Amino acid sequence: KTILLSEYTPPAYLVPSIDLEFRLDPHATRVTAVSRMERTADTPADAPLVLNGAGLKLVSVAIDGAPVGPDRWLQEEERLVIRKVPAAFELTVVTEIDPAGNTALEGLYLSNGIFCTQCEAEGFRKITYFPDRPDVMARYRTTIIGDPAVLPVMLSNGNPVADEIGEDGLRHITWEDPFPKPSYLFALVAGDLALCESPFTTMSGRDVSLRLYVEPRNADKCEHAMASLKKAMVWDEQAYGREYDLDIYMIVAVDDFNMGAMENKGLNVFNSKYILARPDTATDSDYGGIEAVVAHEYFHNWTGNRITCRDWFQLSLKEGLTVFREQQFVADHQSAAVSRIHDVRVLRAAQFPEDAGPTAHPVRPDSYIEISNFYTSTVYNKGAEVIRMLHTLIGPEAFARGMDLYFERHDGQAVTCEDFVRAHADANELDLGDFFRWYVQAGTPEVSVETRHDPESRSFELTFTQTLKPTPGQPVKKPMVIPVRTALIGADGAPLALRLANEAADAPEADQTERVLVLEDRVTRFTFADVAERPVPSLLRGFSAPVKLETRAEDADLAFLMGHDDDAFNRWEAAQTYAIRVIHRLIADAAAGRPLVLPADFRDAFARTIGDDSLDPALIAEALTLPGESYLAETMTRIDVEGITAARQFVRREIGRSLEGLLLEVFDRLAAEDAGKPYSFDPASVGRRSLANLCLAYLGAPGGTAGLERARRRFETADNMTDALGGLLVLADQEDALSQPAFDAFYARWKDEPLVVDKWFMVQATASRANALDHVLKLMEHPAFSMRNPNRVRSLIGAFAASNPRGFHEASGRGYDFLADQIITLDASNPQIAARLVGPFKRWRRYDDQRQALMRQALERIAARQGLSRDVYEMVSKSLA
Ligand code: ARG
Ligand code: ZN
Repeated sequence: KTILLSEYTPPAYLVPSIDLEFRLDPHATRVTAVSRMERTADTPADAPLVLNGAGLKLVSVAIDGAPVGPDRWLQEEERLVIRKVPAAFELTVVTEIDPAGNTALEGLYLSNGIFCTQCEAEGFRKITYFPDRPDVMARYRTTIIGDPAVLPVMLSNGNPVADEIGEDGLRHITWEDPFPKPSYLFALVAGDLALCESPFTTMSGRDVSLRLYVEPRNADKCEHAMASLKKAMVWDEQAYGREYDLDIYMIVAVDDFNMGAMENKGLNVFNSKYILARPDTATDSDYGGIEAVVAHEYFHNWTGNRITCRDWFQLSLKEGLTVFREQQFVADHQSAAVSRIHDVRVLRAAQFPEDAGPTAHPVRPDSYIEISNFYTSTVYNKGAEVIRMLHTLIGPEAFARGMDLYFERHDGQAVTCEDFVRAHADANELDLGDFFRWYVQAGTPEVSVETRHDPESRSFELTFTQTLKPTPGQPVKKPMVIPVRTALIGADGAPLALRLANEAADAPEADQTERVLVLEDRVTRFTFADVAERPVPSLLRGFSAPVKLETRAEDADLAFLMGHDDDAFNRWEAAQTYAIRVIHRLIADAAAGRPLVLPADFRDAFARTIGDDSLDPALIAEALTLPGESYLAETMTRIDVEGITAARQFVRREIGRSLEGLLLEVFDRLAAEDAGKPYSFDPASVGRRSLANLCLAYLGAPGGTAGLERARRRFETADNMTDALGGLLVLADQEDALSQPAFDAFYARWKDEPLVVDKWFMVQATASRANALDHVLKLMEHPAFSMRNPNRVRSLIGAFAASNPRGFHEASGRGYDFLADQIITLDASNPQIAARLVGPFKRWRRYDDQRQALMRQALERIAARQGLSRDVYEMVSKSLA
């Protein structure tokens, strides 16, 4: 059944407060929910009470203390409908649930003996019958009853208000959350957990206790997450004036979690991957991910919890905005340019393909079958880009005014994306009507640009043309409002002052060297005055809009921008564009049977960048990282699997071979600088490690002995996981006789650290070996592999399908059959994770005829199964449509 935004109706009954009691038991937890219910003014008196509920054993129902018989209610598969209810009453529902048997990890479940919940989006209905929708906000009081010997820690949202041992010998603890909240923010955790506590004082002087709960064996891996939380709290006070509002902030880390983390009010639950870190077990990228996700969930306290979504179509209201806030925070704490590059890499690798494929949807979707499928890169990452564009278009001061009004006007409410944009419009007296198209129209706009320089009139013209292709359900589109941050770089490498031809010479903007050009129509032209010589335009600086910019720049212009653009992002972009171009030409050469040659100009531009010691090593590493296979595939109309892999490998090998001396020199210098220093997660150290590992990756590509020997030494002697993994990744690409001993040693050392074992699976799953699938099949039999743990599934099956094109797209179609089998198996235990695995099939129409047929067969085989979950059904049927 398809749910439509156009069919939204406000709730008929509101719930001002709810008292919950959980009598915990692994297989038979009894939940008693006592809710105050109030019919709303617009609801007719005979309107039945409709409650959501799924997979529940209903024990009893009572209204104002009097039992209600089955003659007054109707229990459907996912609803309980009660007739003839008063205008205001107390509803008591008793249900029984089976946390230990809950493999979908939604609702209340057990992870390694820890009871925990995941209620977003619609998990609360797996706990009790309730109006499980975000516009019903209640005050929660939660009593947890359990054996203190087995469950010494029992937590819920808010503050503990009572704690005693009952006559039953069990502990009864009661928590109260003073803030009304939607059911998706409810949380409960109980288990044997170690506590890491630290105090924090807010800007107004309130004391808050920060508490991190982890399994006792992980007590030594909490420091970084705690430091990250404090940084996030300080940052939100300074950047947005937002302060924390409860006395305790709790985070619990569990091993089995479908997503990254969850912002439950006062009690976040995290995938342990985004909490646990020690230098020897976590990489720089793990440290960065922890800092970002801890901040993200913290920022939700205002953008998500205090102000929440009216309905799930508005998901980006909280997610796009919170990702944007997270990105700003990361840019302020890690390297700003590198963090922007990462944002864009994620967008291009995940969101652009989504926008171009069968499941394309607007940032604010207008229909869905299963909402879990809409926690997408479009809603999150493109949603963040939309907020960023608003920030760029109206400027930081106006944006701050808009945010202030948004917080002031909507605190305590469940609102829509229109409400958000309206707050910015009202605060600044602007009309943002056309801008709203970014929420409504799916697809990535394509922008092409023509330049014309006239030495006679000293004018320079930029003509932009935008097109937006049809997407499912949206055949015709209107033009988008696109901010193009622009500079013109002169031959001496300096940016020119930008005066538009229709502006006076003394106009206040006329001496700026960077301007935001706003495209509002299909074709928009800008003419600049006083441009004596043809400049090189630097367009879409900082990636100012989520569009595909088609540039006609010459190779030489790209090399020039690589060396001179004063926008660090665009220096990187020039290098990427150049590399993509070179790879495309190599793919064409290979297809035509011509010999492959690496262009000397490209190699030289590359060498100049590596050798430029005025540059931040982190940026050099980013600039010299070749575009990923997923993005390369996205840049081709018909994806040439072998061509992409071969061309990319060729470039890697040729750079490694032709620049061996330079790469060795840089690697040795960086390694020497870091030798003997303790691990530190600061931008400079991270940059050095990343450049060193990149040099190693190039050096290892041709299998030359100098590179291999360094890789092995780094793998064996590193005191931190970043360096060790840099070595292992090089060894992983070598023949089995070299790689296998490294894998064995790594496993022997780390077999008791699940997050490191995930890396061990992932490196093998993505290694580009001839018989990749056979290795994966063997790993599926390994005692450490489990279909029940989402991180493990992602690190072996997910990583293989998404990041091992050579193995997954094996011409026989075996890779496709394998993935289809795994999706079918997983769908029976965890539909959300199964549905995510459909991703790699979505682009099937872009491959050659034979692969298309094979992928389609695999999808059809899944579609033909009886009893598919809504999650997998939606992904598969839309992929085939
Ligand atoms: N709101 C969580 C976050 O910060 C994600 C929850 C995802 N849940 C789901 N069922 N898909 O981003
Ligand atoms: Zn979020």
